Amino acid sequence: MDFTVSKLTPEIGAEIRGLDLREPLDDETLAQVRQVWLDHVIVLFPEQEIDDDQQIEFSRRIGELELINMAALQMRGKPEIYRATNLNDDDTLMAEDHPIMQTNRDNQRWHTDSSFKRIPAMASALHARIVPDSGGETEFANTAAAYDALDDDTKKRIEDLVVVHNFFWSRRDAQEVAFTEEEKAAIPPVRHPLARIHPETGRRAIYAGSHAEQIEGMSWEESRDLIDRLNDHATQARFTYRHDWKVGDMVLWDNRAALHRGLAFDAAHQRRRLHRTTVAGTAPTL
Ligand code: OGA
Ligand code: MN
Repeated sequence: MDFTVSKLTPEIGAEIRGLDLREPLDDETLAQVRQVWLDHVIVLFPEQEIDDDQQIEFSRRIGELELINMAALQMRGKPEIYRATNLNDDDTLMAEDHPIMQTNRDNQRWHTDSSFKRIPAMASALHARIVPDSGGETEFANTAAAYDALDDDTKKRIEDLVVVHNFFWSRRDAQEVAFTEEEKAAIPPVRHPLARIHPETGRRAIYAGSHAEQIEGMSWEESRDLIDRLNDHATQARFTYRHDWKVGDMVLWDNRAALHRGLAFDAAHQRRRLHRTTVAGTAPTL
């Protein structure tokens, strides 16, 4: 199948046109798409009229899917679909104090999906169903390019460091009631390399973001200082792409080489609903 590729920015992002994701991709096309995705970290497929089952099928070609770890966020009957939304099931606006509104605000911090799992997510795909008139963009940062741009002393310093990622660190502002006891017990803190080697490209990438709580063998202050500094470094404008959503846009990103965050919008008046599938990783990072 023929498709065109164009870069979105010099350091991150490519747009693919000419493919209809409702139809299964043949193996050769899939391999080509996968290479574009590995090279550019995020891929935008505009104007895709896909439904949830088609999104699930497409994502499954990338790898096995994760099920969403919080019952309140799952779509009824489809645990593979996470909705990034300020809308109730009937598409009315959620109340300001709805627990999911806090989750949405937490997603406004730079993060990489499921880094709080021992085997963290490989990829995520978001498909835009309802978008606000303004705001609500999603930003992505290339953490492999950011790693390459570190000075040699910093590269050396972080080479063997282990960082503890903890879901309840990044969710420290969420109401207790948002999680059941079982859900909490199921996600203990986990260890990852801070300068993680990408299993497919072999490149190192900064593996931090908002779930990263502390670095092993370092004081709290020193840990926080280094994590914050690396997150700030990785998310400089030159490594980032801001996606302004249009209905039908599908964005596939590589969680092993990217941070992302949602941007705020007028959630009390504007409606937004994006559907996400999450492709599981294949092995622990350590
Ligand atoms: C996500 C996420 C941000 C957004 O779905 O993983 O972080 O812009 N979303 O909705
Ligand atoms: Mn996310």
